[in-house]
Amino acid sequence: MSQMASTILIKGLRNAHAMETESLALLEQRAADLEHYPEVQAQIQRHLAETERQVDRLEKCLDALGEEVSDLTNGASEAFARVTIVSNSDANDVILKDAFADYAFEHYEIATYKSLLTLCEMATQRSIVPLLQDSLSEEKAMARWLKENISRFTKDYVDDRERKAAA
Ligand SMILES: [Fe+2]
Repeated sequence: MSQMASTILIKGLRNAHAMETESLALLEQRAADLEHYPEVQAQIQRHLAETERQVDRLEKCLDALGEEVSDLTNGASEAFARVTIVSNSDANDVILKDAFADYAFEHYEIATYKSLLTLCEMATQRSIVPLLQDSLSEEKAMARWLKENISRFTKDYVDDRERKAAA
């Protein structure tokens, strides 16, 4: 067992917790912005519920490693700062820019869970692997959904602009 891997795993779980907490705030904002796109809104709300469970799983992981969970900081994570940079300006195409940013964010999350799983292996912490794998599967499914729907978002956006221009 690598002591260094254990130390980095704990730090990584804390960072992931900050990331998912930030993701909750982001998804809540997205859901509120999507009132004109009920189908997209429903998917975002489903992922919001998954994200709540992911936060819970990370707390369970830390608890299983004997870490205190009451002192977790929920400040802005680096991940959020990195993706929001592409998601500002012109409010008209917010549906598209949000989808691009969300797609990037889901991949940041996927990379995070893959790294945590590698650290589990290096630190021989197998008990928390299933929890992290469940979250990884959910992030992959959300990324896939976004990828499969980018064309439709683009078409919806054009239709919406045409409707507004004709009004
Ligand atoms: Fe996610």
